[in-house]
Amino acid sequence: MTRRRKSIHGQWSSRWAFILAAGGSAVGLGNIWKFPYITGQNGGGTFVLVYLLTISVIAIPIMMAEVMLGRRGRQSPINTMRELAREAGASRWWALMGVAGILAGFLILSYYSVIAGWALAYVFKAAWGTFTGLSGEEVGRVFGAHVGDAGLLLFWHTVMMVMTMAVVSRGVKSGLEQAVRWMMPALFMLLLVLVGYAMSSGGFVRGIEFLFRPSAIGPAGVLVAMGHAFFTLSLGMGAIMMYGSYLREDTSIAKTVITVAGLDTLVALLAGLAIFPLVFAYDLPPGAGPGLIFATLPIAFGAMPGGAFFGTLFFVLLVFAAWTSAISLIEPAVAWLVENHGFRRLHAAIAAGVTTWLLGIATVLSFNRWESYTLFGKTVFDILDFLTANIMLPLGGLAIAVFTGWFMSRKVVRNEMAIEDRRLHELWWFLIRYVAPVGILIVFLNLLGVY
Ligand code: TRP
Repeated sequence: MTRRRKSIHGQWSSRWAFILAAGGSAVGLGNIWKFPYITGQNGGGTFVLVYLLTISVIAIPIMMAEVMLGRRGRQSPINTMRELAREAGASRWWALMGVAGILAGFLILSYYSVIAGWALAYVFKAAWGTFTGLSGEEVGRVFGAHVGDAGLLLFWHTVMMVMTMAVVSRGVKSGLEQAVRWMMPALFMLLLVLVGYAMSSGGFVRGIEFLFRPSAIGPAGVLVAMGHAFFTLSLGMGAIMMYGSYLREDTSIAKTVITVAGLDTLVALLAGLAIFPLVFAYDLPPGAGPGLIFATLPIAFGAMPGGAFFGTLFFVLLVFAAWTSAISLIEPAVAWLVENHGFRRLHAAIAAGVTTWLLGIATVLSFNRWESYTLFGKTVFDILDFLTANIMLPLGGLAIAVFTGWFMSRKVVRNEMAIEDRRLHELWWFLIRYVAPVGILIVFLNLLGVY
């Protein structure tokens, strides 16, 4: 065995601390806001199936590899990749993967923070009883008026970025571990309440059918499903590598990753079960797009007993879920500024945060003043989302799989993964070497065939 590295940024206090932090990164807007709306846009059942399939055979094996690389390298992704490439006798250019990851993190956070800002604004709307007794149409109008106001979106985006910088500047351990500890279980419970309400809405059967009955899907839908598997698990840009770098040596990577991915998937399915029955009960279009949850859940909050309370709580928890994800999106950049450029953490957080804030203005405008500026029918926000989630993250994942499976020493990988059951290790090794890379390539090539 080669010498052991230590992270200069700290270490998780236990296996559960990592599960909570990685779970906090994974569970976010992706599960509750994005999963339902892209499922709605892509026809339902088969899309969900492809998503579950890509999670299991592509994303989970890659997540194990990404955590493993992080723990072995113990630095920000750029330095980790440079170091591990040197160790493996591979090209220094592997460090570029870390660079691309930091770029993807900035781009994703730039729009993520804007959407999280919507949720933040909705906390106050719910608390003030704005939704009480509103019809589906009126709820839709509230949403339209909200996203139509660029100044307002900018304001909430700013608040969200300040919140993110505040935690990142203090370091992951102090800020994060505590927050996630109570937030995740609470979010989970509240989703159960909402699913319970959805059961009584009159649309439950149609909701279930939509989510699980086979439907039509094209190559573009398959790409979106796979891209989302990466997005929802925070894979392919170094966030999970960064969190892996704080992981203790004696923690089982495989078990931990499977726990996190399982929780994440459960939250997404619960969100789907809470939202689609309402969509059908109130005759709303499932393919409504990014506004889907903001145009459906408030109807329920306006109609159910204690709706103002549940509504407020829901959006508070959604903001928390988004916050713990947002943090992980700039952590690699911040760690790199600290390691390579001698920044103090606070200054690094501000530099990265302000950059992201500026980029976010493009998303703010794409829901109002720039709404009509489109390319292939996509707004600036759509393009950012497509480019990052469906192209950059899968490419990052591909690089992780190829590096781990084909460039690293087999022995180092085996020791680092330390999967006790030999057959399970072989299964993972097969998935990471063949299934994941080939799967990603097929999805990409399939799409090229369409154009
Ligand atoms: N996984 C988070 C969500 O579902 C978003 C996220 C956090 C993310 N960190 C990431 C996505 C890193 C991609 C890469 O909301």
